[in-house]
Amino acid sequence: MQIKNTENHFGIVAITLHWVMAILLIGLVALGFYMVWIPISLEKLKLFGWHKEYGILALILVMIRIGWRLGNRNPSLASLPRLEAFAARAVHYIFYLFMIALPITGWLITSAAGLPVSVFDWFVLPDLVAPNEEQRLLFQQIHVWLSYGLIAAFCCHVSAALKHHFINKDDILKRML
Ligand code: HEM
Ligand code: HEM
Repeated sequence: MQIKNTENHFGIVAITLHWVMAILLIGLVALGFYMVWIPISLEKLKLFGWHKEYGILALILVMIRIGWRLGNRNPSLASLPRLEAFAARAVHYIFYLFMIALPITGWLITSAAGLPVSVFDWFVLPDLVAPNEEQRLLFQQIHVWLSYGLIAAFCCHVSAALKHHFINKDDILKRML
């Protein structure tokens, strides 16, 4: 398999980044909803810590992914009807928006709560804002609504991929495998 994308297939770097980030994002959403729901305990604090660290890892990976994508054209969607190709591209761009906005709003919630964001004991990120309860609640609301948006885009994306594979029987899913 090629390292870079070609006209008809994603390359190994784009495929690896796609699937690693898909697993990471699904895990972060599940962990996020679970950790806010359980009662205050040491377990809850540990899960919050993991959520923040892996969330920042997602931010680092999306930067690498954007860099890679800028130097690599995605395989063509010319075989699709125009509206479908437009919808597919729109969902891809919306995903990039979520992949950036979710970790940043998470970081903002933590700074507004007056807490540090430590990343796997490698380094501590600077505070983005001063502690402020009103702002914390606002960023929290934005973070939750972005998560709902991510889930909605995910449902469209996966159902489209499965439709292409099982109904249209084309190679759209295969070229990401
Ligand atoms: C792509 C990355 C991320 C995703 C998909 C994600 C998703 C979620 C979800 C689904 C929740 C539960 C929302 C709720 O019901 O309140 C949540 C909560 C939270 N997230 Fe994230 N998150 C991400 C990154 C981050 C990062 C990087 C941080 C901090 C550095 C962070 C900090 C928080 C905090 C503090 C909460 C709890 C908010 C509360 O108390 O209600 N998140 N996140
Ligand atoms: C587990 C379910 C998933 C399946 C079956 C799936 C399938 C695919 C397929 C088949 C493509 C190639 C479309 C094309 O040929 O243009 C693709 C591209 C893409 N997917 Fe997914 N995907 C999944 C999860 C996700 C998640 C969770 C995200 C969000 C982070 C995501 C973000 C993207 C993006 C941004 C692209 C465009 C290519 C790129 O820029 O890397 N996918 N996906």
